[in-house]
Amino acid sequence: MDSDLEPKPAPHAAPGFFITFEGLDGSGKTTQLRRLAGTLHHEGKSVVTLRQPGGTALGDRIRAVLLDAKSETELGGIAPEAEMALMFADRAQSLRQVVRPALAAGNLVLCDRYTDSSEAYQGAGRGLGPERILAMHQAVCQGFQPDLTILLLPPLAGCLFRARRRNERHQQQHGVSENRFEREGDAFYERIYEQYKVIAARETERVVVIDEESGIPVIAEHILRVVRERLGRYAAR
Ligand SMILES: Nc1ncnc2c1ncn2[C@@H]1O[C@H](COP(=O)(O)OP(=O)(O)OP(=O)(O)O)[C@@H](O)[C@H]1O
Ligand SMILES: [Mg+2]
Repeated sequence: MDSDLEPKPAPHAAPGFFITFEGLDGSGKTTQLRRLAGTLHHEGKSVVTLRQPGGTALGDRIRAVLLDAKSETELGGIAPEAEMALMFADRAQSLRQVVRPALAAGNLVLCDRYTDSSEAYQGAGRGLGPERILAMHQAVCQGFQPDLTILLLPPLAGCLFRARRRNERHQQQHGVSENRFEREGDAFYERIYEQYKVIAARETERVVVIDEESGIPVIAEHILRVVRERLGRYAAR
């Protein structure tokens, strides 16, 4: 019988450690991932970073289609189910070509977004339903989950402000919106925010929520403490 005292099996048997960064647009994922990668690399650890969608040749093509605001006009839009399937096509390729080999070789793998993003954005944001995303995750990724997920969940308004400011700058420089998602209204992002909270409440061991509204270095310290503690526990298995 399962008990809280019983050691849980690692999500994967490989010697490496898999960390994902999650959160809304503008929540600071890329900023914090880069800082953490830099710190760990500086300490001599082997770190592999990637983002989803992207990180493979196929993934970069999928990313261009999925995120490019021009897809709305040139492709006549993307059906929510097609968006979900493309996200998972990218993920399948990324797992096979990058994540699993890097973990097998003992690396720390830091990934900017993973299946929680699909559950939040396509499942809740687009209204496909979280259960369809989780079923797809089982089918396509064999349910492969990170060892640790850092969920950046500062108040929604700040994220949207930062993401939209960045998008406006991009629009001024390039004449088009930076990405399809950043053109969505507040209700879309509120659904995503709420679903992230649902995920965190459901997966209390894997997901660590960082919801403080501090500056970049303070949050980086917080993340580093969490990661060191988890790596220590992992090494002592
Ligand atoms: N804690 C913070 N306080 C103030 N500004 C921040 C903080 N974290 C990140 N930023 C700034 O907010 C902007 C967005 O951060 P970042 O690109 O890391 O977000 P993201 O979560 O990767 O967004 P996206 O999902 O759109 O890629 C950047 O200009 C970054 O410097
Ligand atoms: Mg980013």
